[in-house]
Amino acid sequence: MKTIGICGAGTMGAGIAQVAAASGYKTVLFDVNNAILKLAEIRIEKDLQHLFNKQKITEEKKAAAWAQLSFTSDIRECVADVIIEAIVEKKEVKLSLFKQLAQWNGPNTIFTSNTSSLSISSIATCLPHPQQMAGLHFFNPAPVMKLVEVVQGKLTSDKVISDLVLLVQTFGKIPVVCKDAPGFIVNRVARPFYIESLRQFEKGLGTVEVLDRLLESKGFRMGPFRLMDLIGNDVNYAVSCSIFEQLGQPGRLEPSYIQKEKVEQGQLGKKTGKGYYNYEDDQGA
Ligand code: NAI
Repeated sequence: MKTIGICGAGTMGAGIAQVAAASGYKTVLFDVNNAILKLAEIRIEKDLQHLFNKQKITEEKKAAAWAQLSFTSDIRECVADVIIEAIVEKKEVKLSLFKQLAQWNGPNTIFTSNTSSLSISSIATCLPHPQQMAGLHFFNPAPVMKLVEVVQGKLTSDKVISDLVLLVQTFGKIPVVCKDAPGFIVNRVARPFYIESLRQFEKGLGTVEVLDRLLESKGFRMGPFRLMDLIGNDVNYAVSCSIFEQLGQPGRLEPSYIQKEKVEQGQLGKKTGKGYYNYEDDQGA
C-alpha cells in the first residue's frame, strides 16, 4: 500500500490526512467544499510547524510529510490503494460517495469508512466488491489519539482486516479489531457519558462548567460538554440518534432535545466558534 485517498477534509479527514502523509504515504485529501479544503491545508501546515517548533519532528520530516499531500475537489483524483471516507455521518450521502468512488478505483482498492456508528456491512452493499470494505474508526484529534477501531463487516475479507491492521501500525497507532455493531466498542460505551450528563443539565442539576469540572476532577481528560464541542455537536447528535435507533430505542440512551437545539442553532462546537462554550477567540487556531 502506497497511496491513501481521504474523503472529507473536516475535523477528522484533515487529521487523518496529516497522519497518513507523515507516515510516508502519498495522500490525496478530497472534499466537495473548496473553503474547507483550504482550511484543512492551513490546519495541517500549522500543525506540522507546531510539531517542528516543539522538536517532535525534524525539518526534513515536516517537508517530507508536506510533499506527500495533495488537495482536490475533483473526485476523479481520489484514486488510491486505500480510501478512508470521513464525510458527514449520513448513510445516504456516504452510499452515494462510495458508488462514485467505485467508478474510479479498481477491485483491489480497500474502501474504509471512519463512521462512528453506521453499519459497515450495510454501506458495503453498494460496492461491487463488498469484501474490500471495512471500518477504520479514528479518534479525535486523529494526529494525537492512538486507538483505531478496525471494523470487520459481515462480508469484509480477513486479508483486508490484516492489511488494515498493518496499515494502522505503520501510522504509529494501536489497531483494535472489532465487530460491526452499533457504535462499535468505544462509541457504545461512551454514549451514557454524554446522554446522562445532558440529562443532568436538562434537569438543572449543574451547569455545563460544573458538570465538566466534576468529571474532569475524577480523572476524565475532558468533561462531556467540552468533548461534545470538540467532536462537533452535529456529529455527536447524529451518532446518538443512530445508536439509539439501532439498539431498539432504549430510554436510557434517548438523545437530548438540547443536542437537537444545538444543531438547529448552528452551535456545533469548536468548528463553528460556539457550542456549549464560546470559542470565538480561537477561530483558526
Ligand atoms: P465534519 O463535519 O468536520 O467534516 C465533514 C466533511 O465532509 C466536510 O468538510 C464536508 O464538506 C465533507 N463532505 C460532505 N459531503 C461530502 C461528499 N459527498 N464528498 C466529499 N466531502 C463531503 O465531520 P467530522 O467530524 O470530520 O466527521 C466525519 C466522519 O468521521 C463522520 O462519519 C463522523 O461520525 C466520524 N468521526 C468523527 C469524529 C469526531 O470527533 N468529529 C470522531 C471519529 C469519527
